[in-house]
Amino acid sequence: MTTDAKILSALRANDDGVSGAQLAEQLGISRAAVWARIDELRKLGYDIAASPHFGYRLVSAPDVLHADDLLARLGETKVIGRDIRVFEETTSTNDVIEKLARDGVKEGAVVFAESQTKGRGRLGRKWVSPTRKGLWFSVLLRPELSPQETTQLTVASATALRRAIKNVTGLLTDIKWPNDLLIGGKKVVGILTEMSAEVDRVRHIILGIGVDVNQDAPEFPVELRKIATSLKAEAGEQISRAELATEMLRQLDADYARICSGKFSLVADEWEAGCATIGKNVSVQMGTRLIRGCAEALDDDGALLVRTEHGHLERVIGGDVTLEK
Ligand code: BTN
Repeated sequence: MTTDAKILSALRANDDGVSGAQLAEQLGISRAAVWARIDELRKLGYDIAASPHFGYRLVSAPDVLHADDLLARLGETKVIGRDIRVFEETTSTNDVIEKLARDGVKEGAVVFAESQTKGRGRLGRKWVSPTRKGLWFSVLLRPELSPQETTQLTVASATALRRAIKNVTGLLTDIKWPNDLLIGGKKVVGILTEMSAEVDRVRHIILGIGVDVNQDAPEFPVELRKIATSLKAEAGEQISRAELATEMLRQLDADYARICSGKFSLVADEWEAGCATIGKNVSVQMGTRLIRGCAEALDDDGALLVRTEHGHLERVIGGDVTLEK
């Protein structure tokens, strides 16, 4: 953890304040060095009060993503979030992390951007990523799974993000296969899973996650207003992006551990309980092929099993699923 992360952690753990001398001792630096770091944090927008009586006290944190702050809030995780990087602007966080993956960066690295100029979604769609309104981030994983088993990760990410949203905002989301999260039929979270693999071995997986957090309804482009919403619009209040981001990393870490220890069936049960697709009539567009039928269940690898109009059971691993009215 960096010095700034340790200072923010100590301030959060001591609501009533912590003295410069205590901080200096905990961090093994001089009081003057503590003061200099506090000054830098204030320049980033942290409101840190200081008095001879209570020492330093964190009054408020800005609504910006700051790698040290995210690390300090996150605490210990097994894999995800050990390395966090924040960019003010990128093309796509999936591109940034793909480059880090090729450079040999360890799994668990996370890249956030305050805005993306070329955010992309599934099936070649564009992903709108306005500055500081949402969470636009990518996670690098190097799981010991075969390429066929990686749908498990797609499914697990939806359950993890659903729990995180519930824990931070109280809002319940519906999962639409494979991993969209919806509220009242409108999308709030999209996940783009990209994989680099050989025939029987995964080199790495990138989970690209987009969460619409603090947009007001009129801020969405006209063409999205009927199909997308934000957590703020649904909860009726501004959401702390840093708090949500760290809870999402914590829950992703927990589900990744479940998958790596062979407990996908637990994740699948939770997924099915929160899923708006199972038991419904759906149409699935897979390239030029369209199938219609009833979504019956998930299989052991996370694929969707659809009973078609002709009675066949189709195994769907990709494509665009629409719930039929
Ligand atoms: C979808 O539902 O189509 C998936 C959307 C994924 C968007 C996220 S935002 C962070 C990451 N970077 C991207 O370019 N895309 C993903």
